[in-house]
Amino acid sequence: MTQYIGILTSGGDCPGLNAAIRGVGKAGMDTLGMELIGFRDGFRGLVQDRSLPIDSDTLSGILTDGGTILGTSRDKPHKMPIGGKMVDMTDAAVDTYKRHGLDAVVCIGGGGTQKNAMRLVEAGLNVVTLPKTIDNDIFGTDVSFGFDTALQIATEAIDRLHSTATSHDRVIVLETMGHRAGWLALGAGIAGGADVILLPEMPYHVEAVADAIKNRARKGKRFSIVAVAEGAMTVEESETVAKLVAAKDAASTREEKKKVSEDLNAFHQAHVDHTVRLTQQLEELTGLESRLTILGHLQRGGTPSAADRVLASRLGARCAALVADKQYGVMVAARGDHAVPVPLAEVAGKKKLVEPDHPWVKTARRLGTCLGDK
Ligand code: F6P
Repeated sequence: MTQYIGILTSGGDCPGLNAAIRGVGKAGMDTLGMELIGFRDGFRGLVQDRSLPIDSDTLSGILTDGGTILGTSRDKPHKMPIGGKMVDMTDAAVDTYKRHGLDAVVCIGGGGTQKNAMRLVEAGLNVVTLPKTIDNDIFGTDVSFGFDTALQIATEAIDRLHSTATSHDRVIVLETMGHRAGWLALGAGIAGGADVILLPEMPYHVEAVADAIKNRARKGKRFSIVAVAEGAMTVEESETVAKLVAAKDAASTREEKKKVSEDLNAFHQAHVDHTVRLTQQLEELTGLESRLTILGHLQRGGTPSAADRVLASRLGARCAALVADKQYGVMVAARGDHAVPVPLAEVAGKKKLVEPDHPWVKTARRLGTCLGDK
């Protein structure tokens, strides 16, 4: 019997989304006799029933394209901004699913998407998810597609910054994305030979960073490259966050919780330009001219790397096979060369962060890279 499958992409875009859509579509339609319908702009399209038909022509030529043919958004079905208010639109998502007579919906996204997909499972829908994000912070999978491409872009940036930093005897700070995880900064820092790598998971001392740069200058190396994750924090900043998080956990009333959440948001907003301050501080502390490069959304654009195309294709194809077997409520995770189903309940709400004793961290230390600790 034909299975009718919906598919959507949600959260920030990344290279490999189209390869994944194609993987699900080709395996599902060509070999498993499924019919596919795409929902536009993430969960918002499911809620508003905005769809596009998917056939083999739709999937033709998209493997190498960046972005997503379906469009994406960060909207959550249970908290959708409508008319200036947050509205729970879960029932509308369920109605769309039923109206189209779907057997399952495939949600491709990052950590937030896994949580939202879990909510749809709880609302009674058959859901299978795929892990995408340049941040590589999705729990339960070795790696997410998008990460390898972003890593290459960030590494190439460090390579290019080396020649200009050397020519001018400058300190160049490079800010990578990654949200609250340091995988991109760490990977690109190692691959590009950064002298300092700063991660959100390992709060840093500005003085320790300045000392490392001054030590290099004493040895005749008057340039330094500092790779910083956008979520990296000083020890003092991380103590402030820890206090706010503890206060949020301890808050007994809704009002108290709301107030602490606002304080936390205010902290993170004020933290957005922290690499500007870090660069100025390093110039003052080292006496070396310092410059900042923020890579930003460049890391999410353009054609996916070969590794991301392979990963997205194999997770997508396996996803179609799991749907055919009616294995629902799972994320298709990468485990070595295999693609395995992991219950969404084990994934939703968790993050895969860089552990301080992770082999990549040990490698950076063995190479003499400063990680900002004393
Ligand atoms: O999750 C991917 C990511 O690129 C993060 O690295 C970054 O913090 C965030 O998205 C940026 O989001 P936006 O595209 O909404 O600015």
